[in-house]
Amino acid sequence: TGGITTIDPGYKNTGSCESGITFLDGEKGILRYRGYSIEELAEKADFLEVAYLLIFGELPTKSELEKFDRDIKEESHVDEDMKKILDGFPKSAHPMGVLSSLTNALIAFNPGSVDVDSEEEMYNAIVKILAKFPVLAAWTMRKRKSLPLDYGDNSLGYVENLHKMMFARPNKSYEPNKLVYDALDKLLILHADHEQNCSTSTVRIVGSSHAGLFASLSAGISALWGPLHGGANQAVIEMLEAIKADGGDTAKYIAKAKDKSDPFRLMGFGHRVYKNFDPRAKIIKKSAEEVLGDLGIEDPVLDIAKGLAKVALEDEYFVQRKLYPNVDFYSGIIYRALGIPTEMFTVMFALGRLPGWIAQWKEMRLRKEPIGRPRQIYIGENSRSFVELENR
Ligand code: SDX
Repeated sequence: TGGITTIDPGYKNTGSCESGITFLDGEKGILRYRGYSIEELAEKADFLEVAYLLIFGELPTKSELEKFDRDIKEESHVDEDMKKILDGFPKSAHPMGVLSSLTNALIAFNPGSVDVDSEEEMYNAIVKILAKFPVLAAWTMRKRKSLPLDYGDNSLGYVENLHKMMFARPNKSYEPNKLVYDALDKLLILHADHEQNCSTSTVRIVGSSHAGLFASLSAGISALWGPLHGGANQAVIEMLEAIKADGGDTAKYIAKAKDKSDPFRLMGFGHRVYKNFDPRAKIIKKSAEEVLGDLGIEDPVLDIAKGLAKVALEDEYFVQRKLYPNVDFYSGIIYRALGIPTEMFTVMFALGRLPGWIAQWKEMRLRKEPIGRPRQIYIGENSRSFVELENR
């Protein structure tokens, strides 16, 4: 029936792209940002340094980092009228939907950042969104708890400020906790970029129409929300909770995951690229054990997660399909230990991925890539004539 359209090999920007930002080797489990291994960066750098590296291509000198931090702090206010938009949402609205909307709404209050061509204009738009995004993310959490909204504390570092905006409570002392800040910093670094995943490809293709950085990021947030992508970290904890409520019967859930008549999937397992271990999952698993130990938290879902992973990694179904724990499998256990509500887990993923999205958008725009236009293999009807209504 349908004719097959051959794809003109010369067709530009059909969805795949050249990029010099992040390197993945799915077979060997290698992940590098601008040539630096994720293991070294997670151990030795902080999130703002990694954001600078991804966006500008080099690790910053001390003065470059101080200027970057200053420029971001300068932009940490958000127009008061943005609160009216937030007020329009019910408290039950999912934070990812609210965050995507607020990110888009920022355009109206920062018209100069819509679509920019020069590197200087890009820099201004980039520091604006790096500054305002954590404020909006914290607002999505405070909105659900009917807490007052503020703009953070510029005397703090980037991650400390984010944590305080999320957790400070009126008339209650706020206790800084370096263990918590370090764990959060490491998680944000591990999520910072991952080459052409679903949400990053979305940012690049929306950006290729010159819709602007904020509109492209808003689209990326929506893509990340899906449970097959960033939404998996929330789905993992919900799955582990269900297994716990079901008496911790991991064998039953392994069997469900293997049963083709059952739509259930082992959330946090499998990956489009990693057909071996996900290097991030290895680091996060170790960090989860350290954080829970340091904070003196006994979380039964960590034991269930480890039990599930052990069984799955020995089971022929998973081994044959090369299904290993991915970045989302253990991250939620740390977020939980840090007191972050489950519905905020994917917002934490977005906060980490923000510099990667920005870097990929900037690279695409500076390379003057044409508008994205994925091609198709046509499998529909061949040419046919119209049939009058009375003859159908
Ligand atoms: C992220 O791309 C990125 O880089 C993403 C990310 C990033 O940093 O941006 O790494 C972040 O999104 C990680 C993935 C988070 N998602 C989940 O954990 C959801 C659960 N995983 C899956 O739905 C799945 O593994 C995907 C979506 C992650 C990958 O899907 P693929 O590679 O397209 O695999 P597939 O759907 O083609 O499945 C291949 C086989 C199938 O079985 P058969 O038809 O061969 O018999 O493996 C099975 C699938 O049914 N399978 C699973 C499974 N994942 C795949 N079976 C049970 N549980 C699973 N999780």
